[in-house]
Amino acid sequence: MQRVFRLPCLALNAGLLCQLSKHHIAHSCQIQRTRTCTRTCTRSSSGSSSVSHTAPSFPYERVHEPVLLSEIIEYLAPQKDKVYLDGTFGEGGYTKRILDEAACHVVAIDQDPCAVDKARRLAEVYPGRLSALWHEFGKIGTLERSFDGIVLDIGLSSSQLASDRGFSFQRDCPLDMRMSSTAAHGSLRRLIPADVVVNQFSGDKLNSIFKQFGQERFSRLIVKEIEKRRAKAPIMTTHQLVDAVVAAVPKRYAREATLHPATRVFQSLRIYVNDELGQLQSALASATRMLNPGGRLVVVSFHSLEDAIVKKHFRALAEEQPAELLFEEDEYEDAAATDTETETETDTEIYSDAGTVPCVFRLVTKRVVRPSAEEIERNPRSRSAKLRTIERVK
Ligand SMILES: C[S@@+](CC[C@H](N)C(=O)[O-])C[C@H]1O[C@@H](n2cnc3c(N)ncnc32)[C@H](O)[C@@H]1O
Repeated sequence: MQRVFRLPCLALNAGLLCQLSKHHIAHSCQIQRTRTCTRTCTRSSSGSSSVSHTAPSFPYERVHEPVLLSEIIEYLAPQKDKVYLDGTFGEGGYTKRILDEAACHVVAIDQDPCAVDKARRLAEVYPGRLSALWHEFGKIGTLERSFDGIVLDIGLSSSQLASDRGFSFQRDCPLDMRMSSTAAHGSLRRLIPADVVVNQFSGDKLNSIFKQFGQERFSRLIVKEIEKRRAKAPIMTTHQLVDAVVAAVPKRYAREATLHPATRVFQSLRIYVNDELGQLQSALASATRMLNPGGRLVVVSFHSLEDAIVKKHFRALAEEQPAELLFEEDEYEDAAATDTETETETDTEIYSDAGTVPCVFRLVTKRVVRPSAEEIERNPRSRSAKLRTIERVK
């Protein structure tokens, strides 16, 4: 039996957007100056339609350089009148390029209200073509519509990293790390800030967070130091945490290591606070069911835990394993341990939706796609990016 997706028109999404009253969007998101963009779009990567005009400018200042942008467009191949989901709007680098590439529609979501504020402003520049929603990608299933392509660019944007929200150990600021720090409205999770995790979680729990999400080899020593310090006064800032980590890690290791000793602790706390891997798993499970035949899911990830989850999920879809059986208890550790970089292309019929929907998926990227040396030189942040694409054939 063919699954019937409900397809509310974009006007409904625009309506949903209007329902997000302004107090849902953080007013701390600053209105920024307009930047001039002179790029002219002359082709659609699909070849089926083209938008031949000078693309409008971004109506806000940006600091985030989109990663693997040409490759995203190549694999998504936007077409006229089709509808795409950008599950991680950020500063809109992907969304805008998709809109400029073909006369299509984009639904853009982000869990960060500052990003949604930007998306709403970009929507004004593309009347009737862009719907912006404050939503998390782990719950895209609740959007109740299907798409001709979905893109996910997992992780943080450069503006989040440069903010005073505690993501970077290089900036001294409150230890928060929540991507959606405003009090959650109905559809978003309420996240626990990192200072609560560091000061109130048991030593065992902290140890497992540092090990599981950061593969931190000195996690026991670091936890001991945190416990010693927090017994005297709570650790409330990024630099207080950095000091504790640096004091705990053996001096010889700290001298020889190429990474700052606090890198893995910060990574693991951020992943835990935002439930990043859980969100990714839910998003993958929903996204592949929300694709129209011919639609593609393109995922860019930045560390091996995420990429291994994407790779395993895509491979299962293309190889007839029920996706529901994929994620077992120690999934994240297994995933990191088995990360390799080769794929074989398969094209097999499976039942992907709890055994009821016959879908055929095809791995489009036979091997993981990495940024070129030129892109890495231009944008060093792209160096760990990995892109994978799957297509729903029918
Ligand atoms: C790397 S940035 C995306 C950058 C974007 N592609 C661009 O070109 O500007 C990742 C974005 O995903 C958002 N994000 C991360 N986890 C999310 C989730 N679970 N649900 C929705 N958005 C999420 C972050 O808030 C951030 O804005």
